[in-house]
Amino acid sequence: MPPIVGRARQIELLKPLAERARDRLDLAIRPRRNRKSDWSRRLVAENVLTPDDFVWPLFLCEGTKRREPVASMPGIERYSVDEVVRVAERALALKIPALALFPNTDPSLRTDDGREALNPKNLVCRALSAIKHELPDLGLAADVALDPYTSHGHDGLLEDGKILNDETVAVLVEQAKVLADAGCDVVAPSDMMDGRVGAIRRGLDASGHLDVQILAYTAKYASAFYGPFRDAVGTNATLIGDKRTYQMDPANGDEALREAALDVEQGADMLMVKPGLPYLDIVWRVKQAFGLPTLVYQVSGEYSMLEAAARNGWIDGDKAMMESLIACKRAGADAILTYFAPRAAEKIARQ
Ligand code: PBG
Repeated sequence: MPPIVGRARQIELLKPLAERARDRLDLAIRPRRNRKSDWSRRLVAENVLTPDDFVWPLFLCEGTKRREPVASMPGIERYSVDEVVRVAERALALKIPALALFPNTDPSLRTDDGREALNPKNLVCRALSAIKHELPDLGLAADVALDPYTSHGHDGLLEDGKILNDETVAVLVEQAKVLADAGCDVVAPSDMMDGRVGAIRRGLDASGHLDVQILAYTAKYASAFYGPFRDAVGTNATLIGDKRTYQMDPANGDEALREAALDVEQGADMLMVKPGLPYLDIVWRVKQAFGLPTLVYQVSGEYSMLEAAARNGWIDGDKAMMESLIACKRAGADAILTYFAPRAAEKIARQ
């Protein structure tokens, strides 16, 4: 049995060891010096978060004066068009540069071919024009994909259990034009069909939308972390099967670079990696390889995990939020789509 000694005595016994260690050359270098105080930590910080780093994703619903809570995303609501304009004012006040809008389409409008996507008066188009009209300086992004409009919940046209690529791309080009006409500044193809970026670019240019940017969901993985989003837009109920024939395999990294090369070649203005935290290696590689503006989407499941743990008192929600966001910056992201955008922007403003 070793003798039981108190803490003070233990430290006493270690002193000669520490003395000897101090004489060794490697201890001339003490990384902790720079961490000794708040001013010093701020001085040497390699990355910072500002509201300019955020795109705020928002869910839309029909009606007026409506705000519906999303059950699987505590703290997140769907907004009717009039309400989303109020939310957009808040974004502008918080200096958040852009919103990304996602419609929860009425089930009666979801069809096999997703034709509601091309209705210039559909929910997302009405929201785009309402916000653009009142707040022309706020950036507006919207998804190009058919999943909120199809009765089967897929991003493309489905035939005999297969997602048709080229036929889908033809529809997506029209959808991008409809969005641009409604006031969308950034169209974001999230469908993962081959060749869609180039086709959309040509379609936009031919219809006079030369300045509409394309944010390509370049490396969008077939991820379980989209679950709460599908709840928010109502596709959990509709989706038949999964999206693995078009979204990427989480096992692959090199393939993301191949996708990125194609998107760059076809005229993407910005690239996106999605989800966020589990794919920061991909963010790093894409940013290093192409040097294009590279965004990362901290997706619904990531939000809900952090929020659930925080609401249970298991983690400090605010700290975990900021840590998850700075990790995205450290990995090379130029901006982050995050449901935390307003909370993080408010926190930054208070600092
Ligand atoms: C639809 C789309 C999805 C997300 C953004 N656009 C889900 C999906 O592909 O099923 C996920 C976003 C999130 O989980 O927050 N094409």
